[in-house]
Amino acid sequence: MQDKDKEMLNRSPFFYVGDKFKLLPQLKKHFPQNINRFIEPFCGGGSVFLNVNANEYLLNDIDTYMIQLHKFLLSYTNKQDVFWNELKSIIEKYHLSATYMDKDVPIEYRKNFIKTYFARYNKDAYLRLRTDFNKNKTDMMLLYILLIYGFNRMLRFNSKGNFNLPVGNVDFNKNVANALKSYFQYTNNRKITFYK
Ligand SMILES: C[S@@+](CC[C@H](N)C(=O)[O-])C[C@H]1O[C@@H](n2cnc3c(N)ncnc32)[C@H](O)[C@@H]1O
Repeated sequence: MQDKDKEMLNRSPFFYVGDKFKLLPQLKKHFPQNINRFIEPFCGGGSVFLNVNANEYLLNDIDTYMIQLHKFLLSYTNKQDVFWNELKSIIEKYHLSATYMDKDVPIEYRKNFIKTYFARYNKDAYLRLRTDFNKNKTDMMLLYILLIYGFNRMLRFNSKGNFNLPVGNVDFNKNVANALKSYFQYTNNRKITFYK
């Protein structure tokens, strides 16, 4: 994908494995110019609906956590300050690194673990967060943060229904922040309904 295409597209804040983001320049050519109701049965992280203009959106996915996460973000569209404050307070509470918030990993981690410093630094905090989320599995802010710091940014649960993704070598960076900002901006004042 060319840089100019990337700049014109909204990146989903879920960075969903298997999303259609890279295919969007080709896909978009096939959509009608004027869409009244856009129905997407397998919306996943939302890369497609976030880039197709319509009067109304009906969005579905079999993954109930995915839909809960979308609904969770949607609930902050009109109170983004609250979202950023709550996000920051969880990141601080667990002592996760967050390069977007000037909370970088200590320099010795960067020196000693050249390609794995985020994972090494965040592992213990991430596991504490994961344990806390799995206690009742209802706090979507915790699940969203787990997704962002998790390996390949996936949503993965074991047979007991516990989130079980290991920590990834990533943190809350500028790309995540920009994707969230465009999600909030795009969904503001649009008629969007999520189903599961
Ligand atoms: C490759 S992902 C979708 C990617 C999405 N178009 C995007 O760009 O992010 C496929 C999605 O289909 C969902 N899915 C699979 N089987 C389904 C079913 N029977 N009904 C609804 N959703 C289903 C999965 O949970 C997954 O989120």
